Amino acid sequence: EKGGWPSFMAKEISEGPEAIRNTLRARIEDGVIALGENETLTDEQLKNLDRIIIVACGTASYSAMAGEYAIEEWARVPVEVELAHEFRYSNPVLTENTLVISISQSGETMDTKMAVQYAAEHGAHTLAICNTQGSTIPRESDAVLYIHAGPEVAVASTKAFLAQVVGQLLFGLHLARVRGTMTDDEIRTVTADLEALPEQLAFTLENADDVRELAHWMSDTRSVLFLGRNVGYPVALEGALKLKEISYIHAEGFAGGELKHGPIALIEPGQVVFVVVPSPRTQPTMHSKLISNIQEIRARGARVIAVAEEGDAAVLPYADIVLRVGTTHPMLSAVLSVVPLHLFALELASAKGLDVDQPRNLAKSVTVE
Ligand code: F6R
Repeated sequence: EKGGWPSFMAKEISEGPEAIRNTLRARIEDGVIALGENETLTDEQLKNLDRIIIVACGTASYSAMAGEYAIEEWARVPVEVELAHEFRYSNPVLTENTLVISISQSGETMDTKMAVQYAAEHGAHTLAICNTQGSTIPRESDAVLYIHAGPEVAVASTKAFLAQVVGQLLFGLHLARVRGTMTDDEIRTVTADLEALPEQLAFTLENADDVRELAHWMSDTRSVLFLGRNVGYPVALEGALKLKEISYIHAEGFAGGELKHGPIALIEPGQVVFVVVPSPRTQPTMHSKLISNIQEIRARGARVIAVAEEGDAAVLPYADIVLRVGTTHPMLSAVLSVVPLHLFALELASAKGLDVDQPRNLAKSVTVE
C-alpha cells in the first residue's frame, strides 16, 4: 500500500499536490469561493463575529499560525491561535460572536476535542477543519470544512499540513467575501494563485535532489535551527518539529526578530540554520529584515540554507545553499516553503537509518490527555 515508496511519509509528501487539489475541488467557482452555508456557518453569523480563536496541537497548530495571518488580513477580524490544551485551562473569554476553529487531521485528538466542547458549552460557534470524515471533532462542531487530503498513515503529518493551510485560506476568503472586506476581483487574484499551487509543488518535489544531497551530507548533525518571519515563522517551527520527531535531532524554530533577544547566543561556527526567506517582490521589508538576520548569524559562523522564491537573486550572496520554491501570494507561501523542510526531515532520518513512519514514543493520534 506504500505504492512503491520506501515509507508512508515519502508517499504522503509526494501526494501533497493531489491533497491540495482535493481541498480546492468544487470550492472555487468563477474565481470566487463557493463554500456552502452547511460547510461553515450562516452569513449572518459570520458577519457578526468579532473574534476568532484557532485551537490545535502540534503540526496542526503551526498550520493554524499560518492561517491566522491570512484570515486576519483578509477578513479584518482579530484571530489568535491557542494550543488546545492551553486554551481549555485558560478561562478564555467566549461570546456568541466568537468563532472557535479547530484544526485536526485525525479529528480525534483529545485536547482539541475537549477545547471544542469547552467552546460550545461557553456559547461560541465552532468550525472544524478536519481531514478524517465522520471523526469525533467534526461531529461535535457546528460546522465542518473537510480538507480531503486523503488518509495519512505516517506518524509525522505532512500533506495534511498543506491542506490544513489551504482549508483555512478558503475559509478566510469566504469570510472576507461575506463581510465585504475583499472584492471579488481581489479574491480572484488569490484563487488564481491557490489553483497554481499543486503544479508548483509538483515541480519542487520533482527537483528535490539538492535536498536529498544536503540531508545525506548532514546526517551527523546534532543541532539545526530554523528562522522565519510572518508566515515563514510557523514554517520554521514546523521544520524544527519534523526534524525532532523523526530524526531525533535537536531542532528549534525562531521568529527572525527574536534572534537578538536570546537565540543568537546559540550560534557558533558551523551551526546550520535554515532560513525561510519572504518574497522580495511582495514582502520587501520583511525580506530585507531577514537578510539582516542572515548577516548577523553568518558573522558568527553559521551556515545558512535559504528556502527562497525562484526569482530572488538578492539572497544568493547570503546563503551557502539556496532551495528554490515557486512564486505565490505571500499568504500562500507557507504551503510551498514547508515542503523542502518536510523532505529534508524525511531524507535525514532515512540517511540515519531510522523508521520514519513509526518514530519512537509517538502515536499517530493522541487520544489521551
Ligand atoms: C507532527 C504531528 C502532530 C499532530 C498533532 C495533532 O508531525 O503529526 O504534531 O499534528 O498530534 O494531530 P491532529 O491533527 O490529528 O489533531
